[in-house]
Amino acid sequence: TMSAKPYKVLISHPEVPQSAIELLKESCELVQVTSLPPNRAEVLEKIRGVDGLFWGGHSPLNAEVLDAAGPKLKSISTMSAGIDYVDLAEVKRRKIPLGHTPTVLDPAVADIAVGLLIAAGRRFHEGRKKIDSNNWENYQLNWLLGQDVRDSVVGFFGFGGIGQAIAKRLSGFDIDHVLYTTRRRINKELEQELNAKKVEFDELLAKSDFIVIAAPLTEQTRGVFNTTAFNKMKQTAVLVNIARGAIINQNDLYNALKTNRIFSAGLDVMDPEPLPANDKLLTLDNIVVLPHIGSATNRTRSDMATIAAHNVLRGLAGERMLSPAY
Ligand code: DGY
Repeated sequence: TMSAKPYKVLISHPEVPQSAIELLKESCELVQVTSLPPNRAEVLEKIRGVDGLFWGGHSPLNAEVLDAAGPKLKSISTMSAGIDYVDLAEVKRRKIPLGHTPTVLDPAVADIAVGLLIAAGRRFHEGRKKIDSNNWENYQLNWLLGQDVRDSVVGFFGFGGIGQAIAKRLSGFDIDHVLYTTRRRINKELEQELNAKKVEFDELLAKSDFIVIAAPLTEQTRGVFNTTAFNKMKQTAVLVNIARGAIINQNDLYNALKTNRIFSAGLDVMDPEPLPANDKLLTLDNIVVLPHIGSATNRTRSDMATIAAHNVLRGLAGERMLSPAY
């Protein structure tokens, strides 16, 4: 027999993991965008009249999208932790519940951060270039010396789930202690466990051997790592960014690396993305870059999709989402 499904949900991307599709299919009629990359016109066409929205990818989720959906839309989830591409004010104004997928990606992103920290501190990229260019100069005694993780001070700009997961991993590398800058202090037990102390931004810059950016991109965090900040850092400092590219002023970072004002940088995120292949940042020896793959493992993406699907279902049912974004 035909049983009409009570809700219609748009999946805005053709590559959303099957785990999410299966869950949603049980009670929802699904409409899925098939173009890749998702074509805006197709999204705006297929979204008409939906009750729920599963938003895959990082394209702008704004008034245009919400208007196209129309008044029935009552539940949205992204399949990402960061929601900087969402016009949150607009979603709030319309009182539509919005979910996102933090937490499940913490381990995968933390692994990438540790990888970048070591790769940048120990000059992986420069070393590879030496091999490629027939300049393996091991006759030099002090060749390609890098920064020790052991006994270092690691500073976190932003210290939520991801930052804490990184600190936990680094405790196995025998670091000295952790400093962090956040709006709110984390609880005391956690501070003790991670050997972490909350400090002002300037102190973080001045005292850290490694600085890890693990904060959301907001109007308050945009561009705060600029020349002024770099000039307050140690000359031996290594900067890692696994959050959002625009928290760094990339032109200023280029200058700081080029002049060896700081030692090196490891970036999983850039501004813009994709970074053009002819960007001057890529000409530097003292930088390691990855194409935003922090959460890119099968298990992590599948978990993110499942949580996003539950968010949408709960929103439709008028229940509190697993991970509400506001
Ligand atoms: C996130 O979840 O915000 C990551 O950047 C991947 O989308």
